[in-house]
Amino acid sequence: MIQIKTVFLALLILPYYCQWILAYKSLTEEGLQVLTNITESESLETLDKYLKQILIPRVSDTDGNRKVQEFIKSKFKELGWTIEEDTFKDQTPYGEKTFNNIIVTKNANLTNRFVMAAHFDSKYFDPPNNFVGATDSAVPCAMLIDLAYRLDQYLTQPIRSTDPGRTNIYRTFNPMQPKLTLTLPFTSIDQHCSRHLAKKWEKTYLLTVDVPEIKSKTVLGSIETLVLLDLLGVKQPSFANYFKTTSWLFSKLADIENRLYEKRIIKPGSEDSFDDEPYFDTSTLHSSQAHIEDDHLPFLQRGVPVLHIIAYPFPAVWHTTLDNFDAIDPDTFFNLNTIFRIFAAEYLEIDPSLS
Ligand SMILES: *[C@@H]1O[C@H](CO)[C@@H](O)[C@H](O)[C@H]1NC(C)=O
Ligand SMILES: *[C@@H]1O[C@H](CO)[C@@H](O)[C@H](O)[C@H]1NC(C)=O
Repeated sequence: MIQIKTVFLALLILPYYCQWILAYKSLTEEGLQVLTNITESESLETLDKYLKQILIPRVSDTDGNRKVQEFIKSKFKELGWTIEEDTFKDQTPYGEKTFNNIIVTKNANLTNRFVMAAHFDSKYFDPPNNFVGATDSAVPCAMLIDLAYRLDQYLTQPIRSTDPGRTNIYRTFNPMQPKLTLTLPFTSIDQHCSRHLAKKWEKTYLLTVDVPEIKSKTVLGSIETLVLLDLLGVKQPSFANYFKTTSWLFSKLADIENRLYEKRIIKPGSEDSFDDEPYFDTSTLHSSQAHIEDDHLPFLQRGVPVLHIIAYPFPAVWHTTLDNFDAIDPDTFFNLNTIFRIFAAEYLEIDPSLS
């Protein structure tokens, strides 16, 4: 009897639990078509419009860095997103420097956040050189800007899942339901800067205080998942799964890659497609990987579920001046950009075919 009751209760509770925690919905075929309806030349324009603006030496506290900051902010001003800046001074081996994290959010007063992050600075070399860090991390930044532009119009769409357990979940107002939105931090390089941001968000409460359920919810606590993109853009990257809490999302990325590949929406990496290894290596789902130290650690240490998308092995051009525009494979850029767009849309339960 007790067992039956327990099972019954679990069945009752489970759908609600899933609604709170696991926002995710596969796109309909029509939705997928709309979000992947981008020609090769439009994709190349993305490289011109966003990547080339970022591809200059942009070490913290230099004019190049400030120029890139202005560029990023101008893009999100244009979209009308909320722009938060986390500015601070810190000692470095080269004297005191000013650092800045730029965080942009659509509908900043919503209570749950899907966060996709990348760092925008370029690494400092002594003596200074012309390192522009294309994979590290200009390409991820360009992808995030493109993602924002392509998904922006759907982010005010109510969540209208066809799943009977999930009907009428409105993104705009229903205090008992997660009101999910997208936040994109463009951080300064290294863990120190992301730690500054994680500490700040740990002490910052959400703007929406009229909903009693979330009165003491912090910005950090509003993060459902943080995806960190790093070292992207060279041909045939391989990604491993690192964290159990986000394995289910890593599987979704692998599924999306597979689905887009079968439909020939993403392009094979070689003439003979049998040579292609999938980017997302599902053999790593059940083994435990030593994770790579990166900007996500301060969040991970504060209990935020993290998905770390970093090419491993690292690109051969890593930390050399060859990490420039020529290192980028336009097809790989197109493929990854498409995969992340679909992934974000599904996480955020966007469906253009319903609008
Ligand atoms: C794809 O884009 C073209 C040109 O912008 C448009 O005419 C067509 O209707 C679009 N198709 C879908 C499925 O969105
Ligand atoms: C969020 O804030 C905007 C203005 O900043 C306001 O128009 C909107 O009604 C707010 N939404 C909710 C759900 O509080």
